[in-house]
Amino acid sequence: MNKTIFIIAIIVFLTGCSPEEKEKITDSTAGYGEEVFNNNCVSCHGSEGRGLAKNWKVKDENGNFPAPPLNGTAHTWHHSPAQLLYTINNGGADMGGQMPGFSERLNEEQKQALIDYIYSLWPREIQTKYDERFK
Ligand code: HEC
Repeated sequence: MNKTIFIIAIIVFLTGCSPEEKEKITDSTAGYGEEVFNNNCVSCHGSEGRGLAKNWKVKDENGNFPAPPLNGTAHTWHHSPAQLLYTINNGGADMGGQMPGFSERLNEEQKQALIDYIYSLWPREIQTKYDERFK
């Protein structure tokens, strides 16, 4: 192996494994948002926001609505960024819902990254509609 390539490979390997790496915004805010999502939201909203319940419109055995998918198949994209931020901060209590609020648990950068990540999960045509409406 060429010496330069070898050194680059070592650097990539080392930085990729360093524990600090997780705390930094690396690729994009959406990439960071994915990390925040996987640490805080995935347990209810499912991998890539696909949801966990078979039908998010049907109440579960406890009479609660399950967490809806956030990936563009439900109505998350009908809400402005400010409304999404409100839900992240306050959860679903206002709607009689089950979602906990994250106002104290996440910082503003993390919340913004989450919104960017959720947006990144939507199909292109939904993103376009969203941009026309809210940007
Ligand atoms: C304990 C389960 C749970 C966790 C954890 C959770 N949610 Fe939710 N989420 C829900 C439920 C349930 C709803 C529907 C409203 C309700 O019942 O509170 C909801 C609703 C939402 C909505 C509104 C969706 C729409 O289509 O209107 C957004 C946005 C959202 N959650 C984002 C998040 C994000 C981002 C996180 C992580 C920071 C998160 N949620 C963590 C359960 C959860």
